Amino acid sequence: MLQAIDRSKYEVIPVGITRDGAFVLEDDDASKFTLDPANLPSVLDNGTRVHWPESVLSRELTVVDARGDVRSLGAVDVVFPILHGPYGEDGTIQGLLELVGLPYVGAGVLASALGMDKHFTKTVLSQAGIEVAPWQTVTAREWAASAPEVEVSAAAALTLPVFVKPARAGSSVGVSKVKEWSQLSEAMAVALAEDDRVLIEEGIVGREVECGVLQGRAGAAPRASVAGEIVMTAREFYDFDAKYLDAPGIDLVCPAALTPDELAEMRSLAVRAFTAIGCEGLARVDFFLTPSGFVINEINTMPGFTPISMFPKCWIASGLTYPEIIDELITLALEV
Ligand SMILES: Nc1ncnc2c1ncn2[C@@H]1O[C@H](COP(=O)(O)OP(=O)(O)O)[C@@H](O)[C@H]1O
Ligand SMILES: [Mg+2]
Repeated sequence: MLQAIDRSKYEVIPVGITRDGAFVLEDDDASKFTLDPANLPSVLDNGTRVHWPESVLSRELTVVDARGDVRSLGAVDVVFPILHGPYGEDGTIQGLLELVGLPYVGAGVLASALGMDKHFTKTVLSQAGIEVAPWQTVTAREWAASAPEVEVSAAAALTLPVFVKPARAGSSVGVSKVKEWSQLSEAMAVALAEDDRVLIEEGIVGREVECGVLQGRAGAAPRASVAGEIVMTAREFYDFDAKYLDAPGIDLVCPAALTPDELAEMRSLAVRAFTAIGCEGLARVDFFLTPSGFVINEINTMPGFTPISMFPKCWIASGLTYPEIIDELITLALEV
């Protein structure tokens, strides 16, 4: 995004978050953040500290440099929280931005928190009459106290293979495919390392298709892009390495080969899901297309935005350029 944003229109103040949670002034240098599989980029503590406005009366960001000198970064119009996962996509940073009174791109507190949590996303979507995969949610405490009973109950309700996933993680972190019940406990341990609630979900046999949704301008209905498809050629599922490191065994096909009726239904379901969780700005809605119709897997309120990610690919295939997608999102965030 640093590379693609229209510099004739926007002045970018890149703020990084270190592993310890410090907000630092980053270099405006996209090459620093290239996704190199052998050497993933990270935000290092360079000694600067970015401070948010002191009240909602100001939009001024300041930076304290390593020597302690304070400098204004100017008044900020909008924040683009380009973050995945806990604290970034789950309503917490959105809450911070609400408190300091800065407009931001994307979903608000509630939809971010809902979209992040697979248990509650599925609960809300089923309530809205949208098909989701059968699942059971297990807490760390239940698993610790009665793993055998959990397994019996899951085996009675769900057909193998099942997917075991943390309620709140994303990027396929902590997700395992379980083909035999004997593999359940290892998968539970992997998922419980990420969250204290875990979903055991029936594996859906179907094509994995996704589309992007953008909020409508000036109160108009949300818009859905054409569909993209994740084609598994030699990989069990769409895991982290395939998502970010361009690992082999997966082809992203966009636009996906769907009939006009299938595409229309998918777009309408995507907009319904977006509306059901109260989403704003953008989302990517992920589906399985089965012989008996669409099942929604999840909704991502801050979808992957790398050059190999599906959200930009789908909108590019729908007629926008990468800089125009960014421009549209900022325009929507600035609309009152
Ligand atoms: N119920 C399921 N049936 C089939 N494949 C699944 C199922 N759940 C997850 N997967 C596979 O695992 C991947 C990651 O799971 P997902 O629920 O999307 O978690 P994340 O939020 O980490 O992306 C999916 O893209 C898909 O390839
Ligand atoms: Mg996913």
